[in-house]
Amino acid sequence: MKQSEKLIAGNWKMNGLGADLEGVVQDLKRELQAEPASCRVAICPPATLLSRLADAVSGQAVEVGGQDCRAETHGAFTGGVSAAMLKDAGATLVIVGHSERRQEFGETDRLVSAKAEAAVQAGLAPIVCVGETLEQRQAGRAVEVVRGQVMNSLPLAVAGRDFAVAYEPVWAIGTGLTPTLEQIEEVHRAVRAAMLERLGLASAAAPILYGGSVKPDNARDILAVPEVGGALVGGASLKASDFLGIIRAV
Ligand code: 13P
Repeated sequence: MKQSEKLIAGNWKMNGLGADLEGVVQDLKRELQAEPASCRVAICPPATLLSRLADAVSGQAVEVGGQDCRAETHGAFTGGVSAAMLKDAGATLVIVGHSERRQEFGETDRLVSAKAEAAVQAGLAPIVCVGETLEQRQAGRAVEVVRGQVMNSLPLAVAGRDFAVAYEPVWAIGTGLTPTLEQIEEVHRAVRAAMLERLGLASAAAPILYGGSVKPDNARDILAVPEVGGALVGGASLKASDFLGIIRAV
């Protein structure tokens, strides 16, 4: 990823059936053909829709991503999906370490790091998520917590490769709440410093995305914050007009 190139990625989470996909993709394709995006655009649908989405956006400037992968390459892991399987289905990216997985499934920094490494080895760009809880922010520990997550969730294998970090404060996800622009800048600068410390200059080009209640009406301000290299968008990526509004804010 070139540093100048921002990435707007939609995380559909556990939402969307085939019929939803057709509607969103048709609108998105039509609009982006009329006026190409000035950034990298990706959609991370549920695994069931990956290959259908990849077919639907084939030849378009829209990438497809998974929402998670296993750290192992294959084996007896019922229900598991490997990074190579995502790639085989047409993905170029994969989200790892989303706070919903850290919280719901007890995923640790160590596991997230192993998943990111598996992604790189399969030829996918991992989007490694970090972010503090409300309790941690209220205790004045946001920067310290996020810094620790970056240091421990980024494997050395991502150095010089296509990858991103996404800062998603847990309390801002799906709540309509967002940090102030100053708070976003403070954490993003700390993330960059931790990335440089961990990986050296080989990480300088990787974008740091902001995620958590990004909407068309706050996207322009957030995307203009220093060190904000794009957005990871949940709810607003399910509606083509909202997602486009964010893409056009770059
Ligand atoms: P919302 O945009 O719905 O707050 O979700 C953010 C998120 O978790 C993206 O990964």
